[in-house]
Amino acid sequence: MPGLLFSILRKKTGWVWWLMPIILALWEAEAVTGQHPPKNKRPKEPGENRIKPTNKKVKPKIPKIKDRDSTYSTPKTQSIMMQVLDKGRFQKPAATLSLLAGQTVELRCKGSKIGWSYPAYLDTFKDSRLSVKQNERYSQLTLVNSTSADTGEFSCWGQLCSGYICRKDEAKTGSTYIFFTEKGELFVPSSSYFDVVYLNPDRQAVVPCRVTVLSAKVTLHREFPAKEIPANGTDIVYDMKRGFVYLQPHSEHQGVVYCRAEAGGRSQISIKYQLLYVAVPSGPPSTTILASSNKVRSGDDVSVLCTVLGEPDVEVEFRWIFPGQKDERPVTIQDTWRLIHRGLGHTTRISQSVITVEDFETIDAGYYICTAQNLQGQTTVATTVEFS
Ligand SMILES: *[C@@H]1O[C@H](CO)[C@@H](O)[C@H](O)[C@H]1NC(C)=O
Ligand SMILES: *[C@@H]1O[C@H](CO)[C@@H](O)[C@H](O)[C@H]1NC(C)=O
Repeated sequence: MPGLLFSILRKKTGWVWWLMPIILALWEAEAVTGQHPPKNKRPKEPGENRIKPTNKKVKPKIPKIKDRDSTYSTPKTQSIMMQVLDKGRFQKPAATLSLLAGQTVELRCKGSKIGWSYPAYLDTFKDSRLSVKQNERYSQLTLVNSTSADTGEFSCWGQLCSGYICRKDEAKTGSTYIFFTEKGELFVPSSSYFDVVYLNPDRQAVVPCRVTVLSAKVTLHREFPAKEIPANGTDIVYDMKRGFVYLQPHSEHQGVVYCRAEAGGRSQISIKYQLLYVAVPSGPPSTTILASSNKVRSGDDVSVLCTVLGEPDVEVEFRWIFPGQKDERPVTIQDTWRLIHRGLGHTTRISQSVITVEDFETIDAGYYICTAQNLQGQTTVATTVEFS
């Protein structure tokens, strides 16, 4: 789920402005048989489709542990997922399913407290086509009027709960990857006409051109100079469920690429992907703090700025501790971020948080402490603002 969330967050508009020249160039270069944007595009309402935990208290189940053979046998995991077919028939779904778009999909997973994940597209847009219902003994996911954009992994798991804290029961899971085949759509539609893929030397990079037809033959192409990029399994591999995976990204991989798919005598090209190399090492955020003034007169306004420079796709969260906090002193805190293009494919994300105190009084004098956090850790910086 965090991966999913990340890709949604990354789709936030912030970087569009500096890419305008690229967008225009790509737009002009757009071929006739290009990939289409998804239908049913609706404004995002976060959290709308999330599954809310029920407030029922359930005794935590302690998984049974066999003493003998435990080091030799892998834990038995039997899928808890069933697909409901017409006329009330059930079947265990295969690892991949191919369905015609427009069909209704109904999946059920056994258990009284089931978690689900499904393609990010359904989460990003408020989508009345998807419903999840927890019954006493099973949970039911129904997707009506499916489209090729719904192509992806649908999975469920049982939850072991102790009070309100739940964790995934690894022994009770189920999943299937569904290809929704739609006329004229070989690629899973994307919400934009281009995408940016960051190449980090220490992790895999993915050009996410996924197809809607299991049997499609997919190739990767560099736009300039025009050339097919070999994906022969040593450096770049194609994974039906993810796209082209760069196993060890390096700076020579930079440039604009696109994918081509062929199936049933038809071929189509994907949107374009701009590959950018990022050489910032990963770690806790590198943070600086600066007050508009460190000596302030009564009645003046003061603002303190906390800045983080980091990798383009790493989200930063800010927290403040300030002198007036215990007296619930009203302040304004504004968080923003943008990308700075430094040339030669170097891109930095600048994330900032500004705390503003109007009409400075005695209770506002003291330490302003900013904590910036990313997935790798946190950094705390402080500055003082005194009465002059
Ligand atoms: C599904 O499609 C039918 C026919 O186009 C339409 O009447 C119905 O409202 C759609 N349902 C949802 C939930 O979008
Ligand atoms: C795979 O591709 C790389 C270049 O990307 C090339 O150096 C290598 O020889 C190729 N291997 C095979 C088995 O074709």
